[in-house]
Amino acid sequence: MIRMVDLKTQYEKIREEIDRAVLEVIASTEYINGTAVKKFQAELEAYLQVKHVIPCANGTDALQIAMMALELKPGDEVIVPAFTYVATAEVVALLGLTPVMVDVCPDTFNIDTDQAKMAITSRTRAIVPVHLFGQSADMEPILQLAQAYDLYVIEDNAQAMGSDYRFSDGRCLKTGTLGHVGCTSFFPSKNLGCYGDGGAMTTNDAELAQRLRMIANHGQSQLYHHAVVGVNSRLDSIQAAILSVKLKRLEQYNAARRQAANYYDAAFSTMRQLKIPVRKAYTTHVFHQYTLVLREGNRDALRQHLAERGIPAMVYYPIPLYKQRAFAPYWKGKELPVTEQLCQSVISLPMHSELTPEQQDIIIEGVRSFFE
Ligand SMILES: Cc1ncc(COP(=O)(O)O)c(C=O)c1O
Repeated sequence: MIRMVDLKTQYEKIREEIDRAVLEVIASTEYINGTAVKKFQAELEAYLQVKHVIPCANGTDALQIAMMALELKPGDEVIVPAFTYVATAEVVALLGLTPVMVDVCPDTFNIDTDQAKMAITSRTRAIVPVHLFGQSADMEPILQLAQAYDLYVIEDNAQAMGSDYRFSDGRCLKTGTLGHVGCTSFFPSKNLGCYGDGGAMTTNDAELAQRLRMIANHGQSQLYHHAVVGVNSRLDSIQAAILSVKLKRLEQYNAARRQAANYYDAAFSTMRQLKIPVRKAYTTHVFHQYTLVLREGNRDALRQHLAERGIPAMVYYPIPLYKQRAFAPYWKGKELPVTEQLCQSVISLPMHSELTPEQQDIIIEGVRSFFE
């Protein structure tokens, strides 16, 4: 059976190790903030080469806690891409901040730095580049812009765990460690996913790390002493134990995704009706999604054609954020052309670490036959 994400096959291959890890946590009774959480935290710090990982309950909380820790105040403006998952902008609005949605680049789908620059006002405090579909945003110009205008950079790394970014001087860092704070999600379908909800923040700033940790823990750094108003956002020990097992395999999983992407690319690159994902030299694409742009043909009809052959396909994302009813108060009525176009023309095919060439052949044939 072809699935968008095949967690079942992945689990079958690591079942013994996962089951043992989960049962160990249950037997230990250290369900909250246990050894497993501290172990995973240290392992992720080592993998990302970052000084501080602060685990939390999910990726949306990570973004919210980051904005709280940076002491952004109601009325402050936060620049976000208009083509992203809702969480990126949702937390901005939730905190009484103003999301300012800007257009993305047509080739990478990531935030357009020139558009971000034009959106800066005296109230702008932060910018949130999203490493969409597994490819880093072009961080060097974003970091330069942020420095020039004294903005915080909050990376939304939910979709790109394991991706690298290369600076023009050759330095190479993991996404999530480039800005002031990185936020990630361990939602099951993510490149590094647990078996429930989970998330984390990453930073090299010790003081900020302490604030993030404090806010995630009811605003306390000492039990029953609440210095600031915080939230309750914890990664539970069972999820952490599962993540430790999967982190060891993340490079292998991401390599498998890239290999599957190469296989798709080889088949689709010669089809004029489709535009294959663009891979930039400054980043290692970890293909959270394999997303095509339809140059010709009706997308709904293509999805229907695939569905009839048992092939799932998804549209990430069908509506620009500013056209969502929830964000109507923030929309100034101007459509963003690239976002509009992408929302109408993107289609994501099955992509995961367990995809086989045989399954891909069926998917490829399904797409090809639609255009014949
Ligand atoms: C780009 C992006 N940001 C934030 C999130 C939020 O993560 P979570 O679902 O763990 O809250 C997600 C994933 O769902 C995402 O894809």
